[in-house]
Amino acid sequence: MFRVSFLLIILGFACVSCKFKDKNQTVNSKESIEALLKVRYSKLLDYKLDSTAFARSYNPKTKTIKKVPSKDWTSGFFAGNFWQIYMLTNNEVYKTKAKEWTAFIEKEKYNNKTHDMGFKVFCSFGNGLKVENNKKYEDIIVESAKTLSTRFNEKIGSIRSWDFNKEKWQFPVIIDNMMNLELLFEATKISGDSTFYKIAVKHANTTLKNHFRPDGSTWHVLDYDTISGLVRARVTHQGIDDNSAWARGQSWAINGFTTVYRYTKDEKYLNRAIATANYFINHENMPDDGIPYWDFDDPDIPNVFRDASAGAIVASALVELYKYTKNQSYLDYSKKVVNTLKTVDYILSEEVEAPFILDHSFGDWSKKHEMDEPIVYGDYYFLQTLLRLRDLES
Ligand code: GLY
Repeated sequence: MFRVSFLLIILGFACVSCKFKDKNQTVNSKESIEALLKVRYSKLLDYKLDSTAFARSYNPKTKTIKKVPSKDWTSGFFAGNFWQIYMLTNNEVYKTKAKEWTAFIEKEKYNNKTHDMGFKVFCSFGNGLKVENNKKYEDIIVESAKTLSTRFNEKIGSIRSWDFNKEKWQFPVIIDNMMNLELLFEATKISGDSTFYKIAVKHANTTLKNHFRPDGSTWHVLDYDTISGLVRARVTHQGIDDNSAWARGQSWAINGFTTVYRYTKDEKYLNRAIATANYFINHENMPDDGIPYWDFDDPDIPNVFRDASAGAIVASALVELYKYTKNQSYLDYSKKVVNTLKTVDYILSEEVEAPFILDHSFGDWSKKHEMDEPIVYGDYYFLQTLLRLRDLES
């Protein structure tokens, strides 16, 4: 009797787990995921056009959308997402919205208070130029490059990142700043003025020299002495501690140096991107599904949040790095990340009324802010990876 009941229990369990598996497979089937993605894309169209309210993130607890003006470092991603969805779907309604949101960012071309010009102007107007020839967009990119160049310090050989914490830092340069160089390289291509190219190369060289550890990882913030031009301190602002490997910082480094190689074809930048990519994808704390914990050195791993945005930024970079190296492990990583993100564990459900696609990005530890939320740049690099994979395979 006991044996029979035991057998029935086991069979029952097997059946439940088999049902669960079937259900999960249905939910995650290719067709249902593609349909869900289309629903999520359409949520961006539902969001009200407002020049002062770019959608940045969504707090699931309060069910509120964080809205920011164009001066916020993330505004360009929102506009860029419309351009990228247009490139993926060929649906003109996304292009119309892309143009409208992009136009609101024009005034940032004169904003010299920030280094985030590339994120704001290139992710918006730069994507617009992939879709159409547009002299106005080109002029805006060149004007923005001129403004960004005013933050370059010849003695240090870098573009200043932040203006806050003046009592603590003389001249802070963060690894994220590598992502602004694409705007400068393109400005030189558009205008023929090599000043921007030279500043980009000098910034990359200074970062290459000072920002990396022997294991391939990068510090977040370097503070330079404005008189001697030498490094005063190597610290963090968003990582768990000064010597930790903040995941998104690593991802900016990999993406940034891959981009610099695209424009210069100088192998020292390629080797930098390779070393940091290898550190990232082979790290002992990298989960099997390819989505990193927010900081590789958080002592509470595995009980800490992941950062889908860092995974997506690297996935996008590694499609490009694969083209230069033919290293299959890079393409495998990009595809693995896309496969992980294209599941109901990461794609927001139909019910969430917010203009975002993916959950589980990690914002800013220093402010304890946007931790494990849908964030606009997670979507941006996910869409960019889809486009890059499509182009690679076409
Ligand atoms: N500063 C850009 C970031 O949070 O990654």
